[in-house]
Amino acid sequence: MMLKLQNPLLELVGLLFWMCILPWAEGGKVLVMPMDGSHWLSMLKVVQELHTRGHQAVVLAPEVNLHIKGEDFFTLETFPTSYSQEEFDHLFQYHNQMIFKTQNLLKTFLEMVASMKNASMMHSRTCSELLHNEALIRHLNESSFNVVLTDPINPCGALLAKYLSVPAVFFLRAVPCDLDFEATQCPNPSSYIPRLMTTNSDHMTFLQRVKNMLYPLGMKYICHVLHNAYPSLASELFQREVSLVDILSHASVWLFRGDFVLDYPRPVMPNMVFIGGINCANRKPLSQVCIAAFLPSVL
Ligand SMILES: *[C@@H]1O[C@H](CO)[C@@H](O)[C@H](O)[C@H]1NC(C)=O
Ligand SMILES: *[C@@H]1O[C@H](CO)[C@@H](O)[C@H](O)[C@H]1NC(C)=O
Repeated sequence: MMLKLQNPLLELVGLLFWMCILPWAEGGKVLVMPMDGSHWLSMLKVVQELHTRGHQAVVLAPEVNLHIKGEDFFTLETFPTSYSQEEFDHLFQYHNQMIFKTQNLLKTFLEMVASMKNASMMHSRTCSELLHNEALIRHLNESSFNVVLTDPINPCGALLAKYLSVPAVFFLRAVPCDLDFEATQCPNPSSYIPRLMTTNSDHMTFLQRVKNMLYPLGMKYICHVLHNAYPSLASELFQREVSLVDILSHASVWLFRGDFVLDYPRPVMPNMVFIGGINCANRKPLSQVCIAAFLPSVL
């Protein structure tokens, strides 16, 4: 009699136990479309943590890349590109050399834009090849991912998420040309919000405000040059006019690798989360040289 009563009781306890832990045990399927280079190195930590928490991550990257190599905590899926590793390395080395070249500022700027244009052409060509790869798109579509995690500095991940109708989470430091403000519809008064790379603060003199107004115009031109392939690619896929802001507006959540300790405060939307601390995931004690260099200014 006692045993008979005990069993349903045990079952009930067991059921309650499973009901309690199930929400945590339910792993999601995450499609990760990273930006290569240093951007990937910070995203890698997030992918590792997703794996630790029981989620399944598939990292999608072009066959020819810089840092995106397989790890045991995610599945790497690569797709072919129309350029070779040599061409890719050449462009990258050229860009690196230019950064450290000392010459006329205007010449450096023009060469920089040309090189960025080449790199961006390579990215957008890769994106077009990915989105036109019918077998891969079918496979990704059938995989029914719950979410796409991507760095919008390369809008391809956002476009892919929109194309597959999967919600997107953006992981970023910043996007140029205030595209994040436009895509999230944040207020963006130029008399108050210092523009990227102007070195202005949130307290500006009249001339600094003028600079704050003029600076974005130059940036807008660069952004147009760098990103104009994506709206036409998107418009072709969706058979209607799609702008870059439309592509970026697809994001459900924006995870900013920033913090108002480091950046000036600004109005934000509820789906924008600041996770600047994540940049310190790989911390090491400062070397004596660093401490010596900093101390005089601190004291
Ligand atoms: C850009 O690409 C063109 C053609 O592909 C090449 O001739 C030129 O050297 C490249 N420029 C830079 C800055 O890499
Ligand atoms: C994904 O699959 C669904 C259902 O079969 C289909 O309606 C949709 O067009 C597919 N999307 C893409 C991008 O192929």
